[in-house]
Amino acid sequence: MKTRITELFGIEHPIIQGGMHFVGLAEMAAAVSNAGGLGIITGLTQGTPEKLEKEIARCKEMTDKPFGVNMTFLPAVTPPDYPGLFEVIIKSGIKAVETAGNNPAKWLPMLKEHDIKVIHKCTAVRHALKAEKIGCDAVSVDGFECGGHPGEDDIPNFILLPRAAEELTIPFVSSGGMADARSLVASLAMGAEGMNMGTRFIATKEAPVHDNVKQAIVNASELDTRLIMRGLRNTERVLNNSGVERLMEKEKAMGDALKFEDIIGEVAGIYPKVMIDGDVEAGAWSCGMVAGLIHDVPSVQELMDRIMSEAETIITERLAKMQVA
Ligand SMILES: Cc1cc2nc3c(=O)[nH]c(=O)nc-3n(C[C@H](O)[C@H](O)[C@H](O)COP(=O)(O)O)c2cc1C
Repeated sequence: MKTRITELFGIEHPIIQGGMHFVGLAEMAAAVSNAGGLGIITGLTQGTPEKLEKEIARCKEMTDKPFGVNMTFLPAVTPPDYPGLFEVIIKSGIKAVETAGNNPAKWLPMLKEHDIKVIHKCTAVRHALKAEKIGCDAVSVDGFECGGHPGEDDIPNFILLPRAAEELTIPFVSSGGMADARSLVASLAMGAEGMNMGTRFIATKEAPVHDNVKQAIVNASELDTRLIMRGLRNTERVLNNSGVERLMEKEKAMGDALKFEDIIGEVAGIYPKVMIDGDVEAGAWSCGMVAGLIHDVPSVQELMDRIMSEAETIITERLAKMQVA
């Protein structure tokens, strides 16, 4: 399938694997890129420029297809070495960067100078327009359904995607709640030129995470995510578990007085415990409502082939038969 997104990133299928903390390692990115999508290494999981350089090199050993690096800009107690990380991205010859969180304007001139294409993840049309204005090549429009940080506007993709289509000139992909061929075709119908998936890619054979995590996603229904940290205006959609219930009890009890420090035990340092050790009850980890649509753990190649062949069937058979009189 050819869209402005496949052309921009030099990929076969318009499917991107969004950056995911402690999931977006070389194995994940390479599997997605080898299957014709755009795999993304999560820069901040590596943390230092040296480690990121090694991870990119590892990924290059596993694929000769294009892959990208995610750079997330969020407030941090100890800010990461962003200049060093970007230097490594450029030096390694990476041609796609997914930015998320705060405005990436500061980094765009240097990325453009090296012909690196930038896709910025946004949860609001006004942020997408801003991304377009500052020179991003594409945006990933992340609806309220998404795993991770849906922002504070609570607009689901059935509204957000057509609204983005009304306003944007640059191409965009849908993100949040995407799982299968139906998601892809619906996204295309609403004006997107591809889709970004997070949670769906965790439940694959190649995802370099503990089996307990994959099983937790398969077992979860669309009712099993929770929104935490709303009061701190840092909303995150996570899979419910005993750690999250403890956190939500504190949120309820403390109300507006709650500070980040009060919940640090349930949100800080959780990812290695969950993704590596398989302690899925350890605390808050991002997961989308799309868990309700995930019923198996296929290989990435099987997943991508299934999406693309079923998308063709939907378009050429199901939809083609529904002729408007
Ligand atoms: C476990 C997990 C970790 C994530 N970590 C990041 C991250 O570090 N940076 C980022 O920009 N997005 C992150 N995301 C968001 C994804 O890139 C993607 O936008 C989101 O998962 C899309 O929603 P979906 O899960 O419904 O597909 C994460 C998502 C998950 C599920």
